[in-house]
Amino acid sequence: MEQAQRLQRIPPYPFREIAMLKAKMIEEGNEPIDFGIGDPDMPTPQFVIDALCEAANDPETHPYDESGFGIEEFKGAVAEFAKKRYGIEVATDGEIQSCIGAKEALAHIIWAYIDPSDVVLVPDPAYSVYRVQTSWCGGAAFPMALEAENDFLPDLEAIPEAVRQQAKLLFINYPNNPTGAVASLEYLERVVSFAREYEMLIVQDAAYAEVYYDAEDRPHSILEIDGARDVAIEMHSLSKTFNMTGWRVGWAMGGAAHVEALSRAKSNVDSGTFMAVQRAAAAGLANYDEFAPQMQDDYRRRRDALVEGLQSLGCPIEKPRATFYVWLPVPEGYSSESFARKLLTDCQVLAIPGAVYGAVGEGFVRMSLTIKGDDKLGLIEQAIDNMREGGVAW
Ligand code: MLT
Repeated sequence: MEQAQRLQRIPPYPFREIAMLKAKMIEEGNEPIDFGIGDPDMPTPQFVIDALCEAANDPETHPYDESGFGIEEFKGAVAEFAKKRYGIEVATDGEIQSCIGAKEALAHIIWAYIDPSDVVLVPDPAYSVYRVQTSWCGGAAFPMALEAENDFLPDLEAIPEAVRQQAKLLFINYPNNPTGAVASLEYLERVVSFAREYEMLIVQDAAYAEVYYDAEDRPHSILEIDGARDVAIEMHSLSKTFNMTGWRVGWAMGGAAHVEALSRAKSNVDSGTFMAVQRAAAAGLANYDEFAPQMQDDYRRRRDALVEGLQSLGCPIEKPRATFYVWLPVPEGYSSESFARKLLTDCQVLAIPGAVYGAVGEGFVRMSLTIKGDDKLGLIEQAIDNMREGGVAW
């Protein structure tokens, strides 16, 4: 049967393709060391699982969440967390929307704001959802290059005046996937005043806000900036913070009008987050202080081992300041695709070609520190040895 033309406008989801490739390699007895998708390999903390079991045993959690925005217990935990972690007050009645992970919220906010021909400012490289959903709505994504010389921050001055005038949405994502960069409060202030001047909505994807390594790099919420709520909505997720990718739970927070727009789009598509999962997520947020440092220490050890190993091969990189991603330039003579293929076939190392994240990602690959297997540091060492033996050098 003929499928919609619309479907032809979007590519297959890259990580689904990569998962299929990996499954095939395993079937052939050739399991790679997997630095691919950013999917935490540690279990969800027991206190979250216990809270889920208790909540799932309560029949009150079984129907639709008729609140539409999320149950009070969850929104209360979000507001409390936002106050402690970012020092901001967020109203539980109107400024918070529960989400089925950040991904759907990022997609639905585009559907809520973008008409055909509208312009969306999208970082390049970036999570593919911003670009693909924009094109699915008939909008035009204008790429903002993330270059090392600008600390992987969009150069707002480089956006042509005509594009600024037309743009309705501006996506940012800090800490940044795939580069591992962070944004200072001063930079976020500049983005807010830019969005005010040109009347556009900032969508800040904060999925990695809790994966950072030094106190001085502790990520900020864009809502810390005075007046940001008028022009910003921020997407949060429990996926990466609490090893809960499969649970699909997160939230959006921002100005009430933007949250309401998201809610209207969502409520016509999905029926909210399972209330037992919301209760479990509330338990996670309440125990953030006890859990997060150990998660961060764990990734720090892996980051140091991987980056130092790559440096020993001559790779000119520094340690990322946040996220569990290492973004590295490919050696001379390779494209991001051909280098990722070499890593896979000659070194049994699965990395993501940077071009998956956009044209500016060409010339890079991304390695995620989320590695499946028991001995993480041993696997990193093994990967570096394989690369050395496979003739990888910069
Ligand atoms: C990634 O690896 O970029 C992310 O894990 C993808 C996702 O969150 O869907």
